[in-house]
Amino acid sequence: MEYKDTILDLIGNTPLIKINKINKGLRPQIFAKLESANPGGSVKDRIGYSMIVDAEKKGTLKPGGTIIEATSGNTGIGLAITAAVKGYRCLFVCTDKVSSEKINYLKAFGADVIVVPNTYEPDHPEYYVNVARRIHEETPNSVFAYQYGNPSNPEMHYRTTGPEIWRQTKGKITHFVSSIGTGGTISGTGRFLKEKNPNIQVIGADPIGSIFKHYKETGEIIKGTPYLVEGIGQDCLPANVHFQYIDKIINISDKDSFAAARRLTKEEGIFCGGSTGTIVHVVLEIAKNLTENDVIVFIVCDTGERYLSKVYNEAWLQMNRMLDTEVKVLGDISYNKKRKGFGGMVYVHDNATIRQALKIMSSKGFTYLPVLNGSLKPVGSLREGHVLSRMLDDPKMLDAPVKEIMEESFRVLDAKSSIAEVRNALKEAPAVLVSNFGRITDIITRYDLIDFE
Ligand SMILES: Cc1ncc(COP(=O)(O)O)c(C=O)c1O
Repeated sequence: MEYKDTILDLIGNTPLIKINKINKGLRPQIFAKLESANPGGSVKDRIGYSMIVDAEKKGTLKPGGTIIEATSGNTGIGLAITAAVKGYRCLFVCTDKVSSEKINYLKAFGADVIVVPNTYEPDHPEYYVNVARRIHEETPNSVFAYQYGNPSNPEMHYRTTGPEIWRQTKGKITHFVSSIGTGGTISGTGRFLKEKNPNIQVIGADPIGSIFKHYKETGEIIKGTPYLVEGIGQDCLPANVHFQYIDKIINISDKDSFAAARRLTKEEGIFCGGSTGTIVHVVLEIAKNLTENDVIVFIVCDTGERYLSKVYNEAWLQMNRMLDTEVKVLGDISYNKKRKGFGGMVYVHDNATIRQALKIMSSKGFTYLPVLNGSLKPVGSLREGHVLSRMLDDPKMLDAPVKEIMEESFRVLDAKSSIAEVRNALKEAPAVLVSNFGRITDIITRYDLIDFE
């Protein structure tokens, strides 16, 4: 009889698929590493397996134990598959950004799922990773898988994904493109490939709003802003992102990511999710400058079935202004700024001193600054001219908090506001603030609007 002992024997050894159509006019050979062919439909089956087996080996996971994880869904699915075979309980904490398909998938495996709002910052106790850690501390005989810092994550890609790609391309790979979520895939695979041939370029695909690209280029940690692509990018730095194995990181918008995912599906028949779209857009961009001798391998992170209510749903795309035919909105001005390399939004806290605010203004060359309170709600604004004239009158004020001299806050407009609304608001005031999923994410000045148009 021909059979596998368990479903776990199907994890890994995924095929490479040649790309034939979406790369028309481009010279390199391009191959998709089909991680969606894993039994749970994503690249995360590999680490679901390794994190459980390594915890068993270390003795931290014992019979009857519970596995707890903070997950955007796929790692939960990967853990749930191995846990089902080995007889462990699972409890997952997801944010409400995760698609209902993925949450129902986790429940199908018998896992308990807790959904928390996506709006909390990493230092807040209700941030999904902090909730998972807290539940672990309160649950006897449990392990916290913690894919963001668990070395079993990159190690598994070093031991399996990297060697598979090297073998499948007979060592001819020149460029490896992956997204960066926990960093496990890019760090482990990248490390293996670079050990084989240090000339191989390892390139990260990062959503606009994530902090990785800016950090890689400047060493500075900026504030992240929300985006819609699931599972990748971060607003803090996971220990499993090993930047030394990443040569370059490229930022891609939600709209470009979803369009590229839909093209890979429709033209190549490779059904994929939004994060694969982010990668595919990067692949097509870098391929423009490469030759016939180059061989690009990219990761297909997961299957599109997981996003039927989102990336493959016209109504959802339209509601989120992700279709090309749509009129431009305030969020597009913000994207335009970020694509041109402006980092995150610069602001001051209301209890910062006037001296600190002036220093930020002069070092960044900004004439206006929004003032936010401790909950990051806008409470006022600073104009350089006004601040300086107040300081001329009373220089002792320099060490007073900005709230003592700030003026009225700039108007807040939703990221989906039309350009006409933005133009009207900017006729009345020099700047507006952008609100995205309930968070203030940017400041747009008259100059930004003119530059956009
Ligand atoms: C859909 C999806 N794509 C890509 C990734 C990124 O992989 P990694 O965490 O290995 O960086 C993730 C991670 O959660 C994911 O869920």
